[in-house]
Amino acid sequence: MTSQVRGAQLARLLGQWHALPGRRRSPDYAALAGAVRGLLADGRLPLGVRLPAERELAEALKISRTTVTAAYRELRESGHLASRRGAGSWTMLPGTHRVASTGLWTPLDDRDMIDLGVAALAAPPELLPAARAAAEDLPRYLGGAGYHPTGIIELREAVARAYTERGLPTSPDQIMVTNGTQHALDLVLRLSLAPGGNVLVEAPSYPNALAALAARRARITTHGLAVEEPGWDADLLLGSLRQARPKLAYLIPDFQNPTGHLMPASLRERVVGTAHAVGTDLVVDESFVDLPLDGTVLPPPTASFDRHSRVVTIGGMSKPFWGGLRIGWVRASAPQVQRLAAARVGVDMASPVLDQLVAVHLLADAPAIVAARRAQLTAQRDALLAALAQRLPEWRVTVPHGGVTLWAELDGPISSALARASEEVGVRLAPGPRFGLDGTLERFLRLPFTLPAGDLVEAVGRIAAVRYDLDRGGRPQWREPAVIA
Ligand SMILES: Cc1ncc(COP(=O)(O)O)c(C=O)c1O
Repeated sequence: MTSQVRGAQLARLLGQWHALPGRRRSPDYAALAGAVRGLLADGRLPLGVRLPAERELAEALKISRTTVTAAYRELRESGHLASRRGAGSWTMLPGTHRVASTGLWTPLDDRDMIDLGVAALAAPPELLPAARAAAEDLPRYLGGAGYHPTGIIELREAVARAYTERGLPTSPDQIMVTNGTQHALDLVLRLSLAPGGNVLVEAPSYPNALAALAARRARITTHGLAVEEPGWDADLLLGSLRQARPKLAYLIPDFQNPTGHLMPASLRERVVGTAHAVGTDLVVDESFVDLPLDGTVLPPPTASFDRHSRVVTIGGMSKPFWGGLRIGWVRASAPQVQRLAAARVGVDMASPVLDQLVAVHLLADAPAIVAARRAQLTAQRDALLAALAQRLPEWRVTVPHGGVTLWAELDGPISSALARASEEVGVRLAPGPRFGLDGTLERFLRLPFTLPAGDLVEAVGRIAAVRYDLDRGGRPQWREPAVIA
């Protein structure tokens, strides 16, 4: 089945395509083709959709049909459009690109690229010893079939203990181990959101969570976050919950991705109370909860204000430990966990036993490992902030006191153009619109501080150079699209 994008929809997605910095000397058709490639590159225009007929797009954009014809021709030549006479034109990718499972796609090996599209650390040195110790433990499990839909008991115990130590008493039967936090979210959505259900999310928010919601065809209401702390506007957020009465709200209260904001205790309590009053289930993503910086004291877990099993908490090992482990979890009521496990059997049965054993060993060593991660992140964040202050002083940045990303407000609506230009100089960026739903957020850019300080400083230098080139009118060429995490 092919879906179609209408002229008015594409015009809205394209936004200010004709006025983007860096295209002053290029003809309109080339700028239009470049803007369509940009939408494909950052995932806002999916693959395999039928573009509007030339006449329809020309009318929607109030430009001549000849310009659209020439733009479509250029897109066909660059391998981004397939056309059949009488049937229309579909978006596609040039043959050199691979499609990844997210619907985004990863470029082939590119070792010189500084990748600021992914907000995740390399593995800690403790990973290899943990993997060896896990292999030693494996024989204990080899006598059984190896399917544990809620996870092996020793990992569920370790995760439950960590919640209890944070002031949220939890038993192992309230934990289900998943293949990462993303998998946890997907399973929770399968169970609690009918297709087309109404969901409230923060804007900006985590792109792959938005993708999971899109897969459920969720109808989304957004709550806009401010750049300054605390980010959430209590009255607006509670008002949106009361008005929209969504079936579900997806929130990242602990060092929100991408803004780094931390939701205060008082608002956590009020959000849980209001959600219960209006019949909304809360999905709280705690991906970054282990990573407070600067001695920041964490408010109580959001679920600690929950008296009615309204809050489902998801979290995992990816940010404090390693994304390649693919271990996450759901914390919910024991009956909810049972229902999730039943749903999971129709999806992936269970998580790998060996990986869960590695997680058990890492969690046993968590205080030391996580303390080192925080020290590393603090030094890298400070190097990034210093480089930004020196090279891009016009950008407005709120210092994040936890997590792994900062959210910069740029000196113009240039995020996508900057991302395209930066690819040219070996820096991959996730532009602001990737973190929203409607093609806005062009004034913003997420910058993770998960790479070594030297790479971050080098990347800021290159970004600053192309930023000023954009003003001088150089035209960034579209390059390879990226996976964002
Ligand atoms: C808010 C948030 N949720 C979920 C994920 C995905 O985590 P995992 O690797 O555990 O699936 C990420 C990763 O960046 C994230 O930032």
